[in-house]
Amino acid sequence: MSKPKVIVTRRWPEAVEQRMSELFDAEFNADDRPMDRAALKAAFGGADAVFATVSDRIDAAVLAGPVRARFLGNFGVGVEHIDIQAAKARGIVVTNTPGVLTDATADLTMTLILMVARRAAEGERHVRAGAWTGWRPTHMMGAQVAGKTLGVIGLGRVGKAVARRAGAGFGMRVLSYGRNIPSFEEARAAGVEPCATLGKLLEESDFVSLHCPGGSANRHMINEECLQRMKKTAYLINTARGDVVDEPALVQALKRGVIAGAGLDVYESEPRVPPELLAMDNVVLLPHLGSATIDTRVAMGMKVVENASAFFSGGSPPNRIV
Ligand code: DGY
Repeated sequence: MSKPKVIVTRRWPEAVEQRMSELFDAEFNADDRPMDRAALKAAFGGADAVFATVSDRIDAAVLAGPVRARFLGNFGVGVEHIDIQAAKARGIVVTNTPGVLTDATADLTMTLILMVARRAAEGERHVRAGAWTGWRPTHMMGAQVAGKTLGVIGLGRVGKAVARRAGAGFGMRVLSYGRNIPSFEEARAAGVEPCATLGKLLEESDFVSLHCPGGSANRHMINEECLQRMKKTAYLINTARGDVVDEPALVQALKRGVIAGAGLDVYESEPRVPPELLAMDNVVLLPHLGSATIDTRVAMGMKVVENASAFFSGGSPPNRIV
């Protein structure tokens, strides 16, 4: 029996590409440039499966016309870049990769909290620029993290992992807010105090960290009004999705000192970062590195392979979304 034809939209870790070559008739994207809409459309028209990433916008127009693909394996948890209903309507099974990127993303969230509070990126730039004149008591004083209050918005896998790190590792009080109100046991296990309203979390937190999905349901959840409700000394951390934050409102809030700073790993129109943010020292900017450890990226790839193998052998993919 011939192997299913698979088109992989970006380069994936070597070990995963090797496994894909063994199991599938796999076509790789040798130069790793994002595929344009025409190329994506052609992929769905010409292959049995497409393995995609967050950098591919797979909307109804891409899925319109003759489609051969019956499987779409997303390398990542968030699927707001895929029109899930359009995929379902075309009979395409979509899977994602939950579970394996929780720790890496939670670690990166703590990295951003520490970096922005302790002015780590700014300090590093200072040393590299040859501007450091020596130790002094008032030099680059930042904010203390230990013992402060962290507000976690979205208490899913990553939100809980961040709460555990902040509570157990940094002695922080952790508040949570989200659509799903955790049970008493769940909140106790995660070490969080659930807030009845977003406003209460914003008003009481020294760090507000976003862990909810992107897409229309949460678009611009953090808007001008929310930023106004935060403490002047507070920091906004985003390792979720850029569209959860109204980016122009954030830029204005930072310019006017409405909040103290921000640690961002994701942006509304990646890879575009608003130029105003590039010029601000109280903002730490990372290039969507949440899941970017070797272990995690290999595990994510292998999860896509596992889902596709189950699908093509007639079983049910463990991480099926539709
Ligand atoms: C995720 O899984 O959502 C990561 O951000 C990579 O897309």
